[in-house]
Amino acid sequence: MKAIRFINVWKIYRSPGGAEYTALRGITFEIEKGDLVSLLGPSGSGKTTVIYLAGGIELPTKGRVEVNGTDLTGMSEAARAKWRRRNVGIVFQFYHLVPTLTVLENVLLPMELAKWGDREERLERAKMLLELVGMWDKREKYPSQLSGGEQQRVAIARALAANPPIILADEPTASLDTENKLKIISLLVEANKLGKTVMYSTHDPSLASRARRIIKIRDGVLE
Ligand SMILES: Nc1ncnc2c1ncn2[C@@H]1O[C@H](COP(=O)(O)OP(=O)(O)OP(=O)(O)O)[C@@H](O)[C@H]1O
Ligand SMILES: [Mg+2]
Repeated sequence: MKAIRFINVWKIYRSPGGAEYTALRGITFEIEKGDLVSLLGPSGSGKTTVIYLAGGIELPTKGRVEVNGTDLTGMSEAARAKWRRRNVGIVFQFYHLVPTLTVLENVLLPMELAKWGDREERLERAKMLLELVGMWDKREKYPSQLSGGEQQRVAIARALAANPPIILADEPTASLDTENKLKIISLLVEANKLGKTVMYSTHDPSLASRARRIIKIRDGVLE
């Protein structure tokens, strides 16, 4: 069983006005379990679209997406949301932390939703993850009180929280300085060493090269 399979996947966005935009033009690839893969492409090439399809946030217009042995294609939004809690951790391009929750509460939330462990075990795991990303000291802060790099580190801890086998990270280093970029990538490498299948997108070839395998995308097709 593969971690991720895209089979002739097309994604056409339709705006309310009726205009269409073809973001993916029949892409096919497979990712092995336990692999560390980067998705490299310029702005607008379709990286976020691929991450959203792999995470079951969007559905393909045509073709098939299988993740961790599940065909997401025919599933309802509610079923995909439930599936997502146990199967993938997503690090969004713009963090998407819950602004009304503290750092600690943001990391506890996915475990609560996935009914992972009891209260004490969840707290212990949140502590371990926040220490891993160097954010335990700031656990009582709110996202708005953190820098971009700090928010991104919390987002990685949150993605790992419910212990999903697959981590999807969409430009996790956008708007960070070089030192923090490398820190974030090394956290993803660490997650991979813990046994997670990791796919992260970037437009930066030097960051892409930190992965074991690079998938290149341009104008919605793979190179
Ligand atoms: N909801 C949408 N409606 C219409 N077009 C969209 C929508 N989302 C994305 N697109 C278009 O699809 C193409 C691919 O978008 P996508 O966000 O996947 O690119 P990307 O590689 O992640 O870019 P970036 O590096 O800037 O984040 C872009 O041209 C974008 O304008
Ligand atoms: Mg994007």
